[in-house]
Order: sequence, then C-alpha cells, then structure tokens
Amino acid sequence: MTKKVIAGCVGLLAVLAVCATPKEKPKPMSELIEEDFTLASQQYKLLMKNTPALVMPQTFDYKKNKVVTSNTKWWCSGFYPGSLLYIYEYTKDTAIKSEALRRLGILEKEKHYTGNHDLGFMMFCSFGNAYRLFGNPSYKTSIDTAAMSLITRYRPAIKSIQSWDSSSRFKCPVIIDNMMNLELLYWVSDHGGDAKYKEIAINHANTTMKNHYRPDYSSYHVVDYDLQTGNVLKRVTAQGAANESAWARGQGWGLYGFTMMYRFTKDKRYLDFANHIADFILTHPNMPEDGVPYWDFNAPNIPNALRDVSAASVIASGLLELGQYVSKKEQKKYVASAEKILRSLSSDKYRSKPGENGGFILAHSVGALPLKSEVDVPLTYADYYFLEALKRYKDWYL
Ligand code: GLY
Repeated sequence: MTKKVIAGCVGLLAVLAVCATPKEKPKPMSELIEEDFTLASQQYKLLMKNTPALVMPQTFDYKKNKVVTSNTKWWCSGFYPGSLLYIYEYTKDTAIKSEALRRLGILEKEKHYTGNHDLGFMMFCSFGNAYRLFGNPSYKTSIDTAAMSLITRYRPAIKSIQSWDSSSRFKCPVIIDNMMNLELLYWVSDHGGDAKYKEIAINHANTTMKNHYRPDYSSYHVVDYDLQTGNVLKRVTAQGAANESAWARGQGWGLYGFTMMYRFTKDKRYLDFANHIADFILTHPNMPEDGVPYWDFNAPNIPNALRDVSAASVIASGLLELGQYVSKKEQKKYVASAEKILRSLSSDKYRSKPGENGGFILAHSVGALPLKSEVDVPLTYADYYFLEALKRYKDWYL
C-alpha cells in the first residue's frame, strides 16, 4: 500500500470512530435543577457571610475580590431576599429562610419609597414571594403600601408611570423596564385592593405598546414625554449601544412584562405582543448558539461583544411563562429555547464553582455598559430570574 492510501485509511477510520462514539446524553432537567439549587444554597450561604447586616449584595468587585453592597433604596434590593425565598422553597433549608426574613426586615421601610418606579422589583420580588410562601398579613400590607407609593408616579396625561425624575436630559422618562412593576399593581387589585391599580397597569402597558416598540417588535429603552400634552419628545437609550439598537435586557423585560399582563388580563393583544417579542429575540441573527444574548443585539463588536447573563435569565423565565398560554407546538419551541438557556447558564462558562464570585450563582452580566457600570460581573437579578426560571421549569414542565 502506498503512503497515500494508508493515510487515507487512517483518516477514514478516525472519522468512523468519531461517528460511532455515542453522544453524551444531556443530564435530565430534574437533575440539573437539583444541582443548581444545591449550588445556589451553598453559594448564598457564602453571600450571606459576605454581606453586612444592614445592606444588600449588589455585585462582585474582581479587583478587590469583594462583594459590593447597596442600600435598600437601590432598585435591586428585593432580589436577594427573593432569591433566598426561591432557594428555601426548593431546599427547605431553614438557615436560608432565616436570612430571607432578616433581609425582608431591613427592606420593609422601602414600601414608602417614591423616588423611582422600581417598587415592583424591590417589594414584589421579595414580599410577593414571602406572602405566597408564608401568608403573613404584614407582608401583604407591605405590598399594598408599595403599590400606593408606586402610583404617585402615575401621569394621567401620558397614561404611564414616570420611571425616573425629570433631569437636564429628560422631562418625563419612561423606560421599558417599567413593565415589570405592573405585576405589583395588578396583583394588589386582584387581592382585595382598589381597581385603580390594575387600571393604571393596563394604561401603562397600552401606552408602552404604542410608543416603545418598533415595527420589528424590538423596544426602545427610554421614551421621554411632555408632561402636559403627553406627546412623545424623544426615543433614546440610556443603557443600550445606540438609540436605535435593541438593548438585550430591555427585550427581556418587554417579553416578561407583556406575558405577565396576559396572565392577569387574558387580553389577547398582550399575548400576541409577547409572541412577537419572543420571535424577535429567538430568530435574531445575532443571537448566539447557546441562547445567551450579547448585552445588546446590535452591540458594535459582535461576535466579540460581552454577553448579558441577566438578559438570558429574564428571557428564559419569560419564555417559560409564555409557553403556558400558547399551542402545544409553540410551547415546545419556547420551552426548548428556555431549556437551552438554562443548560448554558448551568455550564462552567457562566455558573460559579463553589466558593467563587463571592457567593453569586452566575457571572457575566452587564448592568450598564455605556455608563461603565457593572460590566461583566455577577448581578442579583441574573440569579433571581435564573432561580425563578428553574422553579417554573420544575413546576410546569417536569
Ligand atoms: N431596571 C434597570 C436595568 O434593567 O438595568
């Protein structure tokens, strides 16, 4: 045999060997979920040690090798107690429960906060879960009071809740993230509260549908309004790559928000809207193979742009809820997409090894890249929506 023929045979054998090697079977989701919650419990006990009593964890500073904390007015203050409650619900670990209750104690005073629109994130991800699990009437009082505080920011001329106070840059800014705070309002009306809360939630969602979205169902980040006339003054970004770009987490907030509005209202317009947003996200040519988006779908340096794990977590959780309201065929598509994200986030590429990242579960999120704030770091809300998605998967699809 000539050398050429021998080399050819060796090559052919190598190809056959690769083809014959059985593909490693993916771990069943039940096992993956168990593994994630076990790790989460370990990690959050570390985070607990790293977080002084009167503040909340915010992120991790790799240069100083230290957990960065925030006060309870920070928009993310509800996520740490909320995550602890999801972990407790799964593990029944009483040390985790005690820590959750301690942190609710320092957060409670923020039910009176009116400094921005984030009351839903702050008070419903935390006290909403606590009330769901323990039914303590004082938790409901905190939720009801937070709804009262939030609607002080409702502007009838615009039919929207003002997100941030006016500034040299904005008159009455409303950001897409604000869709998430409607859950608090609708829930309060549906649990013995005044109907005005859900009316405001509906008005806000309708205004957002009208003014925040482009024809391709991608969302602007910020819409600025004239407070007197209610007219749109400008559509811009604060955290995205450009005014006309699709900031990844904003697409996630919209997907989750309109799906949640459908849960409450059963208004098909919200369901259709959420389906369109899901389509935009899932079929986007810049969506990476592993389902974890770049921080902006139009980031300038794709494929070398940073990923945003927090956007992936929000999208996974939103898709799993959307899967509850659609045909079996569409459900299969949404659940498969969410599963792909959850499997990616549970890999070494994104998930902490025990003891890493100060106790956070996931690394590689982006808070606000244009502001050079929280870039490629762990964030509390990435963990929170990851845990929520795992719980949703377990409750609805196992
Ligand atoms: N709500 C702020 C953010 O998504 O960064």
